[in-house]
Amino acid sequence: MKIIRASSYQDMSRKGANIIAAQIIMKPNSVLGLATGGTPEGVYKHLIDQYNQGDIDFEHVTSINLDEYVGLNHDHEQSYWYFMQKHLFEHVNIHPENVYVPDGSNLNADQACQAYDYIIQRYGRIDLQLLGIGVDGHIGFNEPGDTFELNTHKVNLQESTIEANKRYFASSEDVPREAYTMGIKTIMQARKVLLLASGASKAAIMREALFGPVTPRVPASILQIHPDLTVIVDQDAGACLPE
Ligand code: F6R
Repeated sequence: MKIIRASSYQDMSRKGANIIAAQIIMKPNSVLGLATGGTPEGVYKHLIDQYNQGDIDFEHVTSINLDEYVGLNHDHEQSYWYFMQKHLFEHVNIHPENVYVPDGSNLNADQACQAYDYIIQRYGRIDLQLLGIGVDGHIGFNEPGDTFELNTHKVNLQESTIEANKRYFASSEDVPREAYTMGIKTIMQARKVLLLASGASKAAIMREALFGPVTPRVPASILQIHPDLTVIVDQDAGACLPE
Protein backbone atom coordinates (compact mmCIF):
# COMPACT_ATOMS: atom_id res chain seq x y z
CA MET A 1 0.00 0.00 0.00
CA LYS A 2 1.29 3.43 -0.93
CA ILE A 3 -0.13 6.40 0.95
CA ILE A 4 0.28 9.82 -0.64
CA ARG A 5 -0.49 12.83 1.52
CA ALA A 6 -1.96 15.76 -0.35
CA SER A 7 -2.08 19.26 1.10
CA SER A 8 -5.68 19.99 0.05
CA TYR A 9 -8.67 18.70 -1.91
CA GLN A 10 -7.25 20.39 -5.02
CA ASP A 11 -3.87 18.77 -4.51
CA MET A 12 -5.51 15.35 -3.96
CA SER A 13 -7.55 15.84 -7.13
CA ARG A 14 -4.54 16.83 -9.24
CA LYS A 15 -2.45 13.94 -7.97
CA GLY A 16 -5.32 11.49 -8.54
CA ALA A 17 -5.94 12.81 -12.05
CA ASN A 18 -2.24 12.50 -12.86
CA ILE A 19 -2.28 8.81 -11.91
CA ILE A 20 -5.34 8.17 -14.09
CA ALA A 21 -3.84 10.20 -16.95
CA ALA A 22 -0.63 8.17 -16.73
CA GLN A 23 -2.72 4.98 -16.89
CA ILE A 24 -4.46 6.20 -20.07
CA ILE A 25 -1.19 7.32 -21.65
CA MET A 26 0.52 4.00 -20.89
CA LYS A 27 -2.49 1.94 -21.98
CA PRO A 28 -4.82 3.89 -24.31
CA ASN A 29 -7.45 1.13 -24.24
CA SER A 30 -7.59 1.04 -20.44
CA VAL A 31 -10.69 -0.20 -18.67
CA LEU A 32 -11.31 2.29 -15.87
CA GLY A 33 -13.55 1.59 -12.90
CA LEU A 34 -14.98 4.99 -12.01
CA ALA A 35 -16.76 6.39 -8.97
CA THR A 36 -19.22 9.20 -8.32
CA GLY A 37 -19.68 11.49 -5.32
CA GLY A 38 -17.98 14.61 -4.07
CA THR A 39 -14.54 13.04 -3.78
CA PRO A 40 -13.76 12.44 -7.49
CA GLU A 41 -15.36 15.61 -8.87
CA GLY A 42 -12.05 17.49 -8.78
CA VAL A 43 -10.24 14.55 -10.40
CA TYR A 44 -12.69 14.64 -13.30
CA LYS A 45 -12.17 18.42 -13.72
CA HIS A 46 -8.43 17.87 -14.01
CA LEU A 47 -8.89 15.01 -16.45
CA ILE A 48 -11.08 17.25 -18.64
CA ASP A 49 -8.34 19.91 -18.54
CA GLN A 50 -5.71 17.36 -19.53
CA TYR A 51 -7.98 16.16 -22.34
CA ASN A 52 -8.49 19.74 -23.58
CA GLN A 53 -4.74 20.30 -23.55
CA GLY A 54 -4.29 17.22 -25.72
CA ASP A 55 -2.45 15.26 -23.05
CA ILE A 56 -4.92 12.37 -22.83
CA ASP A 57 -7.31 10.73 -25.25
CA PHE A 58 -10.40 8.73 -24.28
CA GLU A 59 -10.98 7.33 -27.79
CA HIS A 60 -10.17 3.77 -26.73
CA VAL A 61 -10.99 4.01 -23.01
CA THR A 62 -13.79 1.98 -21.45
CA SER A 63 -15.42 2.98 -18.18
CA ILE A 64 -17.31 0.63 -15.89
CA ASN A 65 -18.87 2.54 -13.01
CA LEU A 66 -19.20 1.19 -9.50
CA ASP A 67 -22.83 1.69 -8.68
CA GLU A 68 -26.26 3.18 -9.29
CA TYR A 69 -29.39 3.91 -7.29
CA VAL A 70 -32.26 1.48 -7.87
CA GLY A 71 -35.26 3.19 -9.45
CA LEU A 72 -33.51 6.15 -11.08
CA ASN A 73 -33.50 6.46 -14.86
CA HIS A 74 -30.55 7.80 -16.82
CA ASP A 75 -32.14 11.21 -17.15
CA HIS A 76 -32.73 11.58 -13.39
CA GLU A 77 -30.38 14.33 -12.26
CA GLN A 78 -29.28 12.39 -9.19
CA SER A 79 -28.60 9.17 -11.05
CA TYR A 80 -24.97 8.19 -11.23
CA TRP A 81 -25.34 7.83 -14.98
CA TYR A 82 -26.26 11.51 -15.16
CA PHE A 83 -23.45 12.45 -12.76
CA MET A 84 -20.87 10.77 -14.97
CA GLN A 85 -22.21 12.46 -18.13
CA LYS A 86 -22.13 15.91 -16.51
CA HIS A 87 -18.82 15.58 -14.68
CA LEU A 88 -16.76 13.74 -17.27
CA PHE A 89 -18.18 11.92 -20.27
CA GLU A 90 -19.84 14.89 -22.02
CA HIS A 91 -16.56 16.74 -21.95
CA VAL A 92 -14.21 14.12 -23.42
CA ASN A 93 -14.16 11.87 -26.47
CA ILE A 94 -15.13 8.62 -24.75
CA HIS A 95 -17.53 6.59 -26.93
CA PRO A 96 -21.00 6.26 -25.40
CA GLU A 97 -20.93 2.54 -26.15
CA ASN A 98 -17.82 2.20 -23.98
CA VAL A 99 -19.54 3.59 -20.90
CA TYR A 100 -21.25 1.32 -18.39
CA VAL A 101 -23.25 2.05 -15.24
CA PRO A 102 -25.56 -0.51 -13.57
CA ASP A 103 -29.09 -0.12 -14.92
CA GLY A 104 -31.01 1.45 -12.02
CA SER A 105 -34.18 1.55 -14.09
CA ASN A 106 -34.31 -2.26 -14.17
CA LEU A 107 -36.18 -3.24 -11.01
CA ASN A 108 -35.47 -6.91 -11.62
CA ALA A 109 -32.36 -7.06 -9.41
CA ASP A 110 -31.17 -10.51 -10.51
CA GLN A 111 -31.38 -9.53 -14.14
CA ALA A 112 -29.75 -6.11 -13.66
CA CYS A 113 -26.87 -7.51 -11.59
CA GLN A 114 -26.24 -10.51 -13.82
CA ALA A 115 -26.21 -8.26 -16.89
CA TYR A 116 -23.59 -6.06 -15.22
CA ASP A 117 -21.42 -8.99 -14.22
CA TYR A 118 -21.64 -10.25 -17.78
CA ILE A 119 -20.32 -6.89 -19.05
CA ILE A 120 -17.50 -6.95 -16.47
CA GLN A 121 -16.55 -10.51 -17.45
CA ARG A 122 -16.47 -9.55 -21.12
CA TYR A 123 -13.77 -7.00 -20.36
CA GLY A 124 -11.87 -9.19 -17.91
CA ARG A 125 -10.09 -7.23 -15.23
CA ILE A 126 -10.44 -3.50 -14.65
CA ASP A 127 -7.07 -1.80 -15.18
CA LEU A 128 -7.52 0.98 -12.66
CA GLN A 129 -10.30 1.20 -10.10
CA LEU A 130 -10.98 4.63 -8.61
CA LEU A 131 -12.68 4.57 -5.20
CA GLY A 132 -14.04 6.97 -2.63
CA ILE A 133 -14.99 5.75 0.83
CA GLY A 134 -18.16 6.14 2.89
CA VAL A 135 -18.05 7.21 6.54
CA ASP A 136 -19.12 3.63 7.39
CA GLY A 137 -16.28 2.18 5.30
CA HIS A 138 -18.29 1.33 2.21
CA ILE A 139 -16.62 1.13 -1.19
CA GLY A 140 -18.91 1.26 -4.17
CA PHE A 141 -22.13 0.68 -2.26
CA ASN A 142 -20.75 -2.40 -0.50
CA GLU A 143 -22.13 -1.60 2.92
CA PRO A 144 -20.90 -3.19 6.19
CA GLY A 145 -22.21 -6.73 6.61
CA ASP A 146 -21.41 -10.27 7.72
CA THR A 147 -19.66 -11.27 4.50
CA PHE A 148 -17.93 -9.62 1.59
CA GLU A 149 -20.36 -9.71 -1.34
CA LEU A 150 -18.40 -10.86 -4.35
CA ASN A 151 -20.43 -9.93 -7.41
CA THR A 152 -22.79 -7.15 -8.47
CA HIS A 153 -25.73 -7.12 -6.08
CA LYS A 154 -28.54 -5.04 -4.67
CA VAL A 155 -27.92 -3.34 -1.33
CA ASN A 156 -30.01 -1.54 1.22
CA LEU A 157 -28.23 1.73 1.92
CA GLN A 158 -27.22 2.41 5.52
CA GLU A 159 -28.71 5.39 7.35
CA SER A 160 -25.27 7.06 7.43
CA THR A 161 -25.02 6.74 3.64
CA ILE A 162 -28.51 8.19 3.13
CA GLU A 163 -27.58 11.01 5.52
CA ALA A 164 -24.33 11.71 3.65
CA ASN A 165 -25.97 11.64 0.22
CA LYS A 166 -29.08 13.64 1.02
CA ARG A 167 -27.17 16.81 0.12
CA TYR A 168 -27.81 15.97 -3.52
CA PHE A 169 -31.58 15.50 -3.06
CA ALA A 170 -34.42 17.79 -1.98
CA SER A 171 -34.71 15.85 1.30
CA SER A 172 -33.47 12.62 2.85
CA GLU A 173 -36.85 11.00 2.00
CA ASP A 174 -35.97 11.43 -1.66
CA VAL A 175 -32.73 9.44 -1.41
CA PRO A 176 -33.33 5.97 -2.86
CA ARG A 177 -33.02 3.26 -0.21
CA GLU A 178 -31.50 0.69 -2.55
CA ALA A 179 -28.65 0.57 -5.00
CA TYR A 180 -26.88 -1.84 -7.32
CA THR A 181 -23.16 -2.10 -6.70
CA MET A 182 -20.20 -3.86 -8.19
CA GLY A 183 -19.01 -6.56 -5.79
CA ILE A 184 -15.83 -6.78 -3.76
CA LYS A 185 -14.38 -9.51 -5.99
CA THR A 186 -14.52 -7.26 -9.05
CA ILE A 187 -12.92 -4.40 -7.13
CA MET A 188 -10.20 -6.65 -5.75
CA GLN A 189 -9.47 -8.12 -9.19
CA ALA A 190 -8.66 -4.66 -10.58
CA ARG A 191 -4.99 -4.41 -11.52
CA LYS A 192 -4.59 -1.13 -9.64
CA VAL A 193 -6.79 0.51 -7.04
CA LEU A 194 -6.71 4.25 -6.33
CA LEU A 195 -8.53 5.20 -3.12
CA LEU A 196 -9.16 8.89 -2.46
CA ALA A 197 -10.37 10.48 0.76
CA SER A 198 -10.92 14.11 1.63
CA GLY A 199 -12.22 15.91 4.70
CA ALA A 200 -12.34 15.37 8.44
CA SER A 201 -15.42 13.12 8.26
CA LYS A 202 -13.25 10.44 6.61
CA ALA A 203 -10.30 10.56 9.05
CA ALA A 204 -11.43 7.90 11.54
CA ILE A 205 -12.69 5.44 8.93
CA MET A 206 -9.48 5.78 6.91
CA ARG A 207 -7.47 4.64 9.91
CA GLU A 208 -9.85 1.75 10.58
CA ALA A 209 -9.93 0.72 6.93
CA LEU A 210 -6.17 0.81 6.36
CA PHE A 211 -4.82 -0.22 9.76
CA GLY A 212 -7.67 -2.06 11.51
CA PRO A 213 -8.66 -5.70 11.07
CA VAL A 214 -9.76 -6.88 7.64
CA THR A 215 -13.48 -7.44 8.09
CA PRO A 216 -16.72 -7.12 6.09
CA ARG A 217 -17.86 -4.80 8.90
CA VAL A 218 -15.47 -2.28 7.29
CA PRO A 219 -15.70 -3.19 3.60
CA ALA A 220 -12.76 -0.96 2.57
CA SER A 221 -10.47 -2.92 4.92
CA ILE A 222 -10.20 -5.65 2.26
CA LEU A 223 -8.09 -3.19 0.25
CA GLN A 224 -5.22 -3.80 2.70
CA ILE A 225 -4.56 -7.07 0.89
CA HIS A 226 -4.78 -5.63 -2.63
CA PRO A 227 -1.35 -5.99 -4.29
CA ASP A 228 -1.40 -2.54 -5.91
CA LEU A 229 -3.24 -0.03 -3.74
CA THR A 230 -2.51 3.70 -3.85
CA VAL A 231 -4.25 5.94 -1.33
CA ILE A 232 -4.36 9.72 -1.59
CA VAL A 233 -5.59 11.64 1.45
CA ASP A 234 -5.82 15.35 2.00
CA GLN A 235 -4.63 16.72 5.35
CA ASP A 236 -7.98 16.30 7.12
CA ALA A 237 -8.70 12.78 5.89
CA GLY A 238 -5.14 11.71 6.72
CA ALA A 239 -5.18 13.19 10.23
CA CYS A 240 -5.54 9.84 12.06
CA LEU A 241 -3.15 7.83 9.89
CA PRO A 242 0.22 6.91 11.41
CA GLU A 243 3.20 8.93 10.13
C1 F6R B 1 -19.86 6.37 -5.45
C2 F6R B 1 -19.42 5.38 -4.50
C3 F6R B 1 -19.35 5.66 -3.05
C4 F6R B 1 -18.63 6.97 -2.71
C5 F6R B 1 -18.67 7.21 -1.20
C6 F6R B 1 -18.04 8.54 -0.83
O1 F6R B 1 -19.85 5.86 -6.77
O2 F6R B 1 -19.13 4.32 -4.91
O3 F6R B 1 -18.66 4.60 -2.41
O4 F6R B 1 -17.34 6.92 -3.17
O5 F6R B 1 -19.99 7.20 -0.75
O6 F6R B 1 -18.82 9.58 -1.33
P1 F6R B 1 -18.29 11.08 -1.35
O7 F6R B 1 -17.17 11.11 -2.32
O8 F6R B 1 -19.46 11.89 -1.82
O9 F6R B 1 -17.86 11.38 0.03
